[in-house]
Amino acid sequence: MTAAAAVFDTLLDRTIAPGYTRLGFGWRRRHWPADDPRPDAMRGRTALVTGANSGIGKAIAAGLAGLGGTVLLAVRDRARGEQACTEIRAAHPAADVAVIVCDVSDPQSVTACADELADRLARLDVLIHNAGMLPPERTETAEGHELTLAVHVLGPLLLTERLVPLLGAADAARVILMSSGGMYSQPLAVDDPEYRHGRYRGAIAYARTKRMQVALTPLLAEHYAPQGIAFHSMHPGWADTPGVVTSLPLFHRITGPLLRSPEEGADTAVWLAATAATLPSGQFWHDRRVRPEHYLRRTHFRADDRDRLWRFCREAAGLDVD
Ligand SMILES: NC(=O)c1ccc[n+]([C@@H]2O[C@H](COP(=O)([O-])OP(=O)(O)OC[C@H]3O[C@@H](n4cnc5c(N)ncnc54)[C@H](OP(=O)(O)O)[C@@H]3O)[C@@H](O)[C@H]2O)c1
Repeated sequence: MTAAAAVFDTLLDRTIAPGYTRLGFGWRRRHWPADDPRPDAMRGRTALVTGANSGIGKAIAAGLAGLGGTVLLAVRDRARGEQACTEIRAAHPAADVAVIVCDVSDPQSVTACADELADRLARLDVLIHNAGMLPPERTETAEGHELTLAVHVLGPLLLTERLVPLLGAADAARVILMSSGGMYSQPLAVDDPEYRHGRYRGAIAYARTKRMQVALTPLLAEHYAPQGIAFHSMHPGWADTPGVVTSLPLFHRITGPLLRSPEEGADTAVWLAATAATLPSGQFWHDRRVRPEHYLRRTHFRADDRDRLWRFCREAAGLDVD
């Protein structure tokens, strides 16, 4: 990318709407660095994608299968997962895809999924924490955790930990957390991670827990570096998916024609998973470039706040704190 293109790219990023829509994607794809994954980049490699029955997750699964990978669609509803597999095979007849049940909000389901994978696989090369949701009202899991915290943070922490033996057995495994540009609006909710205080708004709960994913990524990178596992968080821009239609109908109506396709939203996740380039672990990405973690001064936090959140989340996920 030329210096002028880099400046324009940054401008797109800071002005938000142009960069997050298909306009930004269309411009940037003409300036990708020359490290597109090879057509068979995932051959011989296995990936697990959570929330892969619809939207961006399905597009990630299709993208990785199209690059020759074995892809497991981790879904909470087997029938919807099988339907997604059928659609992926229709687009990529040689696709090696299968379903595994995993409700990310439910620790028993996460543990059962990891146990089944341990029986089925010798190693896991890529784990993509894509499952996401935006609830209309405050909801708790059976364990008493606020639902977005459970789906976006606690479930991914638990699933990652349970899969460490398989990830560690791979040659340089990659774990990707699908965050959201919405996280830029929120500071780290370290004093109230379960959102017990103040008026609950689903969009704020969503953005807070997406902020937590990004904040915890460097700590995950550090924690699992001895096992050779790299961590990347990212945001997909604004993509036209069933989740956006259902959860943000007004936003969808206003931005409709400018939204990215699910495949465009999936692009950076597929690239992070499949590129032959050696990427720095622990960074936050969008459109194949490392992006800042903050636009606003008020969202900055101290390192000890992040450490406190790490300890809280590890404990809440039922994991050793250290
Ligand atoms: N679309 C965008 O513009 C946008 C922007 C920023 C970030 N994102 C992020 O991108 C990811 C995908 O979103 P999307 O837009 O593609 O939405 P989507 O079409 O609603 O897909 C979300 C997926 O997550 C699954 N899911 C939700 N809760 C789950 C649970 N407890 N266990 C397992 N799976 C669960 C859903 O399964 P069911 O079908 O069973 O509900 C669905 O497959 C999310 O993390 C979202 O936050 C999207």
